[in-house]
Amino acid sequence: MSRRFEAPKGTFDQLPPASGSRAEVERIMLEQARLAGYQPIETPIFEDTAVFARGVGEATDVVQKEMYTFSDKGGRSLTLRPELTAGVVRALIEHGRLTTGLTKVVCSGPQFRYERPQAGRQRQFSQVDIEAMGSDAPAIDADVVLVGHEVFRRLEIPVTLLLTSLGDPVCRPAYREALLAFLNGLGDKLPAAARARAEQNPLRVLDMKDPLVEELTAEAPLMRDFLCGACKAHDEAVRELLAGAGVEWVEAPRLVRGLDYYVRTTFEWQAGSLDAAQNALGGGGRYDGLSEALGGPPAPGIGWALGLDRTVLALEQAGRLPADPWRLDALVLPLVPAAVVPAQGLVRDLRRAGLVADLPYVERTLNGHMKAAAKAGARTVVILGEQELAAGQAAVRDMTARDQLPVPLDQVVDHVRRVAGGGAP
Ligand code: HAM
Repeated sequence: MSRRFEAPKGTFDQLPPASGSRAEVERIMLEQARLAGYQPIETPIFEDTAVFARGVGEATDVVQKEMYTFSDKGGRSLTLRPELTAGVVRALIEHGRLTTGLTKVVCSGPQFRYERPQAGRQRQFSQVDIEAMGSDAPAIDADVVLVGHEVFRRLEIPVTLLLTSLGDPVCRPAYREALLAFLNGLGDKLPAAARARAEQNPLRVLDMKDPLVEELTAEAPLMRDFLCGACKAHDEAVRELLAGAGVEWVEAPRLVRGLDYYVRTTFEWQAGSLDAAQNALGGGGRYDGLSEALGGPPAPGIGWALGLDRTVLALEQAGRLPADPWRLDALVLPLVPAAVVPAQGLVRDLRRAGLVADLPYVERTLNGHMKAAAKAGARTVVILGEQELAAGQAAVRDMTARDQLPVPLDQVVDHVRRVAGGGAP
């Protein structure tokens, strides 16, 4: 027998019925983005390696340790995207979309990072991402955050919004120096891993999860005390807008995030229910210098990405997975040959009414059909037997309430809609 294969380590197959709720979470985020004026964009799954090296930052873990980089047959160095932002900015520069006005885009799909797989941390994972480029107005910061606020509200999942400002090239260098001096002052007390990080990017020492590092840096200087006038004014304006829109947040002066392009407004939504290392359901921030770093015109930008896999995990744990819209509303069962054609017609009418309806296509006993319908999560079973046909009716079984009613054939669609609670009116 030939060898059987498994999905590569750190990757997962998404199979029905669980895949239905997952697709629904993605749809909810895309819908909120659509309602807020973000338009769909698609960029390649792989890019020139330099797009990520320069965009995400040479010193980041993502670029140094986690990229899937390969040479193609033409000898080009390509990388499977570890995130969407750098590729989206590359595309907007390439197509001249950053010269005037504001561009709001939304995209989704798989990302690849060579990480140590664990619950909520995979090597292939999916994000839904929004980006707004061309404005540095605080109102657009509030706009991107509000999309997330609405997504989590709609998903009915309790999250905490962490918010901070990371300053900009005017004020961050002085802060970096002050932090480095503080960290150097700790000498050998600081674990080797933290000292190594301090050399690359001292800010990243602040978001290390090591309790000893947390304790040693409890009194470290914080960026918010070093913000220049312009960054401070921007930050205050964003907060005023968010508060006005009813958004609550927690000050997170030690939030750094793992990508180097962030300036000013930076944020993350965390779920209390997940393990601290994987509890960020989404995050993002401003990246005003990224366009220039990728050879484009000055074009301030801000955006964030929802981690689909982690969000589904958090929803599962909270027992709040959204109803699966792909689930069968009606399984229509013709029990005698004369019922086959009417059953087909009924399925067509149910589908036209926006209900998910299907026939069984396989021979089974009535009991076998019922079991299969229950397993598939069908909301109703519509039975067309000899007696029903003679009376111009169908027997509609409500699979949740476990009761069965005779319904005139021309009322089956309305009846199924009432029981299943869906479909177009
Ligand atoms: P990020 O924080 O690296 O940001 O990723 C966003 C979300 O993707 C995380 O909050 C998390 O839910 C999910 N995620 C990241 N890595 C993994 C993984 N290995 N397994 C499962 N889920 C993961 C970005 O990628 C930025 N591009 C967001 C952004 C958009 N900033 C500005 N615009």
